[in-house]
Amino acid sequence: MKIYPIRPAEHSDIDSIASVALESWKYTYGSIYPEDVIHQFVARAYSAENLTGSIDRDSARSKRLFCVALDTDGQIVAFSHTVPEPNSDTSFELVRIYALPRTHGTGVGTALLNYLFENVPSLTQLTAWVEQDNTIGRRFYERHGFKVIDEKEDDFFGHKTVLLKYRLQRNPGELATAGFARPSA
Ligand SMILES: CC(C)(COP(=O)(O)OP(=O)(O)OC[C@H]1O[C@@H](n2cnc3c(N)ncnc32)[C@H](O)[C@@H]1OP(=O)(O)O)[C@@H](O)C(=O)NCCC(=O)NCCS
Repeated sequence: MKIYPIRPAEHSDIDSIASVALESWKYTYGSIYPEDVIHQFVARAYSAENLTGSIDRDSARSKRLFCVALDTDGQIVAFSHTVPEPNSDTSFELVRIYALPRTHGTGVGTALLNYLFENVPSLTQLTAWVEQDNTIGRRFYERHGFKVIDEKEDDFFGHKTVLLKYRLQRNPGELATAGFARPSA
C-alpha cells in the first residue's frame, strides 16, 4: 500500500506544481487537444504569478485547500486545489486535481480527496468540471460517487469542447475509498 504525505502548497512548490501539471496535461489531454494548445494553457494557468495568487488566497483561509502530495523522496507527484463556493462552508469546487502519469491508479488522487474531507468535515457538496473525453478523470470522479448534473460547450483556445459538471453529495465524516484505499472484501 502506497502512502502519500500531503501538505499545503507553498511558494517554493510553484515550479514542481507547474511541472506536474504539464506532464499530467500532456498525458491526459494529448489525444483531445493539440499539443501547442496544452502548452499555451498550462503556461498561462500555472504561471508563477497565477500560482502565487492561488497560494496566497488559499493561505488566507482558515483551512488550506490547495495541497500537494509527496513521494517517498519528498518530490511533489500530485496536487489538488479546492475553493469554497461563494458564502458557503458546505459547498466547494475542486478546481484542479492532477497527478504524474506514473502515479495514476496508486491512490494519490484518493489520498488528496481524503485530506480535503478530513480537513473540512463540514463539506457536503463538491463540484468539478471535467472534459467529456477525459476518461481517466471521469472514471475517478464516478468511482468516488460524483454524478453528472450539467454540461456546457466551451471554446478552449479555439478548440470546441464539452465540459461535464460533476457533483458529489457527501455525508460529513465519510471518506473516499478507491484504488489502494478500497476496503478488502
Ligand atoms: C484524477 C487523478 C488525480 C486520480 O488520481 P489516481 O491516483 O490516479 O486515482 P486513485 O488511484 O486514487 O483512484 C483510483 C481510481 O481513479 C480512476 N483511475 C485512475 N487511473 C486511471 C486510469 N489510468 N484509467 C482509468 N481510470 C483511472 C479509477 O476510477 C480508479 O478506481 P478503480 O480502479 O477502482 O476504478 C489522476 O488519475 C490524474 O491525474 N488524472 C489525470 C488528470 C485528471 O483527469 N484530473 C481530473 C480532471 S480535472
